[in-house]
Amino acid sequence: MNFYILTLFPEMILHGLNTSITGRAIESGLLTVNALNIRDFADNKHMKVDDYTYGGGAGMLMQAEPVYKAYASILDKLSITDRNSEKIEKMPRVVYLTPQGSTFTQRMAEDFSGEEDLILLCGHYEGIDERVLEEIVTDYVSIGDYVLTGGELPAMVMVDAISRLVPGVLSNGVSAEFESFQDNLLEYPQYSRPEEWHGKKVPEVLLSGHHANIEKWRHEQAVIRTRERRPDLLGES
Ligand code: 6GU
Repeated sequence: MNFYILTLFPEMILHGLNTSITGRAIESGLLTVNALNIRDFADNKHMKVDDYTYGGGAGMLMQAEPVYKAYASILDKLSITDRNSEKIEKMPRVVYLTPQGSTFTQRMAEDFSGEEDLILLCGHYEGIDERVLEEIVTDYVSIGDYVLTGGELPAMVMVDAISRLVPGVLSNGVSAEFESFQDNLLEYPQYSRPEEWHGKKVPEVLLSGHHANIEKWRHEQAVIRTRERRPDLLGES
């Protein structure tokens, strides 16, 4: 899967994603992460990409043209030459990371993981000129109800959550399936050696070797934990 990230801070994206599991997947060729600097597409010698907002109000806005040119350069690279032509390849989805988006979920990660190419647009300052958003954005996504300084961390969150669903990215093929949210339950507690630590013993049933009882215990624990921490997932909030 190929990610294209339009940002004013490409180094932030690359430092974050070239590490750990995503880093290994990039190295092995399962993923590509292409961070494009929107500033490289400025059309003035000061490389300025922001300006005041019409109508007044605090802060600066990212201008439409550099964002559009950066986007067009990706279409070029994907050899999509005419946006209106019927015979070109499927147009890639373009996600704008914004607090004004739908809240990102595991279901959305699954949906996006089916794409071959995905463009992520990171805003900064007070946002981006609405006109370019109208033209290129297909999905508006937020990562939660709080305000961040820019879309870079949310883009990295999305790339991480989507990448681990791409076949081969996780070394253990089954582990993506048996986790939180798969059946709207949080994960049960887990234990490793030693059998006793700080006076706390590993629950007896886990040492029993009785697989049916272990399954039953884990499911009970998952329900208890979900009721305690995320009653909303059980429709009990
Ligand atoms: Cl996607 N962007 C910003 N700036 N803040 C956020 C967010 C996105 N999601 C939650 N807060």
